[in-house]
Amino acid sequence: MSFVQSVIRPNIRSLEPYRCARDDFKTGLLLDANENTQGPALTSVTEEEELLNLNRYPDPHQLELKEQIVQFRNLNPNEHKTADSQLLSPSNLVLGVGSDESIDMLMRCCCQPGQDKILICPPTYGMYSICAKVNDVGISRVPLQFPGFQLDTDAIVTAVKEDPSIKLMYLTSPGNPTGKLLSVEDVVTISETVAKFWKGFVVIDEAYIDFTPNKTTDGKEYSESVATLTTQYPNLVCLQTLSKSFGLAGIRLGITFCTEELAHYLNSMKYPYNISSLTANVALRATGKDTGLTSMQKFVVQVAEQRDWVLQNLQKLDGIGKNLGGLESNFLLLEILDKDGKPSNEVAQKLYQVLAVDNQVVVRFRGKELNCTGCLRITIGTESENLKLIETFDKCLKQVR
Ligand SMILES: Cc1ncc(COP(=O)(O)O)c(C=O)c1O
Repeated sequence: MSFVQSVIRPNIRSLEPYRCARDDFKTGLLLDANENTQGPALTSVTEEEELLNLNRYPDPHQLELKEQIVQFRNLNPNEHKTADSQLLSPSNLVLGVGSDESIDMLMRCCCQPGQDKILICPPTYGMYSICAKVNDVGISRVPLQFPGFQLDTDAIVTAVKEDPSIKLMYLTSPGNPTGKLLSVEDVVTISETVAKFWKGFVVIDEAYIDFTPNKTTDGKEYSESVATLTTQYPNLVCLQTLSKSFGLAGIRLGITFCTEELAHYLNSMKYPYNISSLTANVALRATGKDTGLTSMQKFVVQVAEQRDWVLQNLQKLDGIGKNLGGLESNFLLLEILDKDGKPSNEVAQKLYQVLAVDNQVVVRFRGKELNCTGCLRITIGTESENLKLIETFDKCLKQVR
């Protein structure tokens, strides 16, 4: 049995994927999928919608989109990529309805309900625990080190050594709510070390990775993303999304990068038409070389400039403490202080309420997360939104402290 087969559930191993009508014949008089041949029930259809044939099921494989995504990710591989390891190909990809589906799909693929566990490193993204609960999967927690929010590599290795029911670890880089890029060295060390004894996958959730600048060594640009390393480490899985840097949260497109073998099993279990024609159309435009990619890269630069400006200006105000998180994402994690200069959940919560209810400025209270006492998570807005944010913060802080 291969490594991948030894991790996934036996019922997924033996799954025969659903065969779509379009897998058999693509052209001709297509009367094989019980679609409505009259057309979409819309009073008007734009030229673009017309071309999408919305009365027809979408392409279940999305090869063109996958090809475009791998071309982009292969451009700047990770520094740890060895010359003999393969570049990403479309067969390393699985597309999902946002990375939320990717997170869930991996759990359903690998974790036996009522028996297996995932490992997470709090403070972290809330959906891992929610998916675990829904799937009746246990949770093992190894907190991020504090301060710094980096991985406790020894504790993670020990946890999976001592508990073979752990099948997946979800590590978030950059983290949410931490905004910190995890050390790629740590990720590689963990992947290499646990591969010697553990039947499980190291999943790196890179929802915010494009906000992290590439690294330049000897004139060459390397990405901090581990996506390209998934062909090198069979136990490494990387999740990305178009919801953040691409500004396309509304289309719901998540991407899993992994070995061809795991991608085969994940693609076998997904709903055949999970990516709609509308989503695929927009995603193709967004990941195209001279179109969407250029805009995405421009956004990333603007967000970084605005993030520094917001941080500088917020920190001039009385009652704002440290930025506990990193500067590798599109948000800040800021401490709100009481009169004595101590981070305070009470003041932060009051501020959060007054900002949202009386001033329609909505940020996220994160003070209940591990090692985030008194923290608000603030997404970076446009220049005018950020101006309003600073003014309103100033006014409301005076009100609540
Ligand atoms: C770390 C992390 N992963 C995944 C997601 C979900 O992304 P998507 O919109 O692709 O489902 C989020 C959304 O906030 C996130 O913060």
